[in-house]
Amino acid sequence: MPELWDGLVVGASLATLEGDAGWGAIEDGALGWRDGRIVFAGRRADLPGEPERLADAVVEAGGGWITPGLVDCHTHLVFGGHRAAEFEQRLQGASYEEIARSGGGIVSTVRATRAADEESLFAQSLPRARALLADGATTLEIKSGYGLDLDGERRMLRVARRIGQSLGVDVRTTFLGAHAVPPEFAGRAEAYIDAVCQWLPRLHGEGLVDAVDAFAERIGFTPAQTRRVFEAARALGLPVKLHADQLSDGGGAALVAEYGGLSADHVEYTSSAGVAAMARAGTVAVLLPGAFHVLGETRLPPLAEFRAQGVPMAVATDCNPGTSPLLSLRQAMQLACTHFRLTPEEALRGATVHAARALGLHDRGILRPGLRADFVHWDVSHPAELAYWLGGNLVRSVHAGGQRLC
Ligand code: NIG
Ligand code: FE
Repeated sequence: MPELWDGLVVGASLATLEGDAGWGAIEDGALGWRDGRIVFAGRRADLPGEPERLADAVVEAGGGWITPGLVDCHTHLVFGGHRAAEFEQRLQGASYEEIARSGGGIVSTVRATRAADEESLFAQSLPRARALLADGATTLEIKSGYGLDLDGERRMLRVARRIGQSLGVDVRTTFLGAHAVPPEFAGRAEAYIDAVCQWLPRLHGEGLVDAVDAFAERIGFTPAQTRRVFEAARALGLPVKLHADQLSDGGGAALVAEYGGLSADHVEYTSSAGVAAMARAGTVAVLLPGAFHVLGETRLPPLAEFRAQGVPMAVATDCNPGTSPLLSLRQAMQLACTHFRLTPEEALRGATVHAARALGLHDRGILRPGLRADFVHWDVSHPAELAYWLGGNLVRSVHAGGQRLC
């Protein structure tokens, strides 16, 4: 008698996302799992026996669609306070760059984050992660970057890890010490990068860092400073990613590709040379339509070139208090379709399999035997609806590693 599966859902359709294109649709499907991994993803009619004889727990889904669990591969969801007042300033005409240069922006969240102890930071951040989970996210990337000193960065990364443990979602942490120059280093960006490069090995040694990011921009760091951070990451064998070419073309995409980076994120101003470098390096383009939407940007990422050159496009929330106070990855998919003209299928691939690649993860993002049993059962009659509805609650259940989370 073979070992029973832990769980089996029957009677829903599957969007497996197998293959390079299409939904990988299986109508009247069945999904079984054991020990946190998928063991069967196919037609109910092809099950190797009666459901009750195959699994400990059988759920009759009664319709709907099952997709891979969503992967939010770019968030800054751990932070103190909020920036609603800045939102109002921008509505009255101030630009993001002007606000940043006058001491607001990222640095104002740094003040609020430094003022919060670990418990308070956890309590403020947990509901944001819970909201992302409630709309289908089973993997979250969370960046540091609002502490900008050793203790503050450590506190953020510890809170990120705790969020994963307390919600059951898989959290991948990214060290973003090079997010902005903190006030105590004003005018001394080089010295600040020295400090960032010293903190990184310590935080990595504490098991807090899965990847390294930087903000390469006129109001961020220069390519040479970014390189220094990437060299420090390389010395530790850590993968890199980059906030690249968001507000201007600083050659960021090509730079991160040169380091074999996992992803170049934002990429509105990325040049043809940058796209070609990403294609060669296998660097994923992470599209962040929430920031584009909130900042009222008009310059579109080079979508046609990404498609032509086979650069995978991921979609993420960029959940942060300044440019993208966005608490639903499905909503980011919707914005990617309306602003960037992604197809709903591209948006779903972007929020699953391509997003997993942007985190260096190959064990999720597709419904396939052997991969993690991360999946969402949606109350929809076609998977294109996921990128179609604005808001609403379409989730019937969310499983990560075979455990039901909501
Ligand atoms: O991805 N651009 C840099 N980082 C964030 C914004 C952070 C903030 O304004 O607090 C982004 O858009
Ligand atoms: Fe960001």
